[in-house]
Amino acid sequence: MTKQEVFKAYEDYIVPSYKRLPYIFVKGKGSKMIDIDAKAYLDFFPGWGVSNLGHCHPKVMSAVRDQVSKLIHLPNNFHSLQQAQLAKEIIYLSFDGKVFFCNSGAEANEAAIKLSRKFGKGARFEIITFENSFHGRTMAALSATGQAKHQEGFAPLVPAFKILPFNDLSAVKSAVNDKTVAVMLELIQGEGGINIAEKDFVLGLRKLCDEKNLLLIIDEVQTGIGRTGKMFCYQNYGITPDVITLAKALGGGLPIGVMIAKRNISDLLTAGTHASTFGGSPLVCKAALAVLRSIQKEKLLKNVSGLSPYMQEKLNELKNKHKIIKEVRGLGMMWGVELNKEGYDIVNSCLDKGLIINCTHNTVLRLMPALDVNKKQIDKAVGILDNSLSEAEAL
Ligand SMILES: Cc1ncc(COP(=O)(O)O)c(C=O)c1O
Repeated sequence: MTKQEVFKAYEDYIVPSYKRLPYIFVKGKGSKMIDIDAKAYLDFFPGWGVSNLGHCHPKVMSAVRDQVSKLIHLPNNFHSLQQAQLAKEIIYLSFDGKVFFCNSGAEANEAAIKLSRKFGKGARFEIITFENSFHGRTMAALSATGQAKHQEGFAPLVPAFKILPFNDLSAVKSAVNDKTVAVMLELIQGEGGINIAEKDFVLGLRKLCDEKNLLLIIDEVQTGIGRTGKMFCYQNYGITPDVITLAKALGGGLPIGVMIAKRNISDLLTAGTHASTFGGSPLVCKAALAVLRSIQKEKLLKNVSGLSPYMQEKLNELKNKHKIIKEVRGLGMMWGVELNKEGYDIVNSCLDKGLIINCTHNTVLRLMPALDVNKKQIDKAVGILDNSLSEAEAL
């Protein structure tokens, strides 16, 4: 197919629910992407937070190659060697509990919401979430999401979500009542513009949840799997959540979702109460194991923490140079550059110059390079961004 034929097929045959850029990528290796015209790009937003190991990591490729020739799918009425190994590894890396396997972030959050309903025993069912949060596109996850723009046209939403201002502990304290069962949040709001939860807020939430017997659910779909310099972002805060949800980077590019629940609540989802046909296939579990082991073997958490101040320094240099930048904020390798105008033209201009980044919440440029990023790549990305910002200011 030619480029034009691909675009035409999208017009004719694919539901137009995404804003798609006119690029067709055909190959990826590490932080490099190649498009259909053989042009190379530096990818500082690999796979929308999926490809934390870069594209086509050799260990993920060999795990998939090995497993694909043995057994791809196994229904969940049998036991799977790969699920057992992956569950053990996830629990070893997080906290004492059990996992539920599904296929996406939204599904992992649905599992957490259903578990909360069971925990509340019909008497308590309200879940507190936060403004500018993003928890997915399925109906309950969408209803939990604190961004009206994603909910428009989909009423009636699932009831019993209370959406409060982020980082406002007193608002949460006032909102808790005898129907409240859980508090659910991202520690860094990714789609909401890289907004970081304050430590006191998170510690306060943990204390409040303990006092009121509420579940503290942390959505780690975007912040998990090494993104912030710890395997999971909650580990930066010195707390243990009751539930976390994972997806995106865990499968190394293959679809997986996971809910981890503390041992005292995990068995509330008894046989027959929740399920997923594809959840935790041998293939995806094998890939996820390769991801977790590679992060540890290649000391990628150390790389992220070590280079994070360098990234911050370079982005702050841009802020000092360009009036268009309002604020730089982030943690580990999850960075937002907030502009005083919309950022989509700058994303396009960077793409034109061979750099892939993202714009979220209209005005926030988002940079989330692979965890093995190096100084040379940071310099190159910041250099391209610098040029695009200068061009935007000259207009
Ligand atoms: C924090 C968070 N939660 C949930 C989701 C939904 O994940 P998925 O698209 O895999 O359903 C996303 C996706 O961007 C996310 O960033």
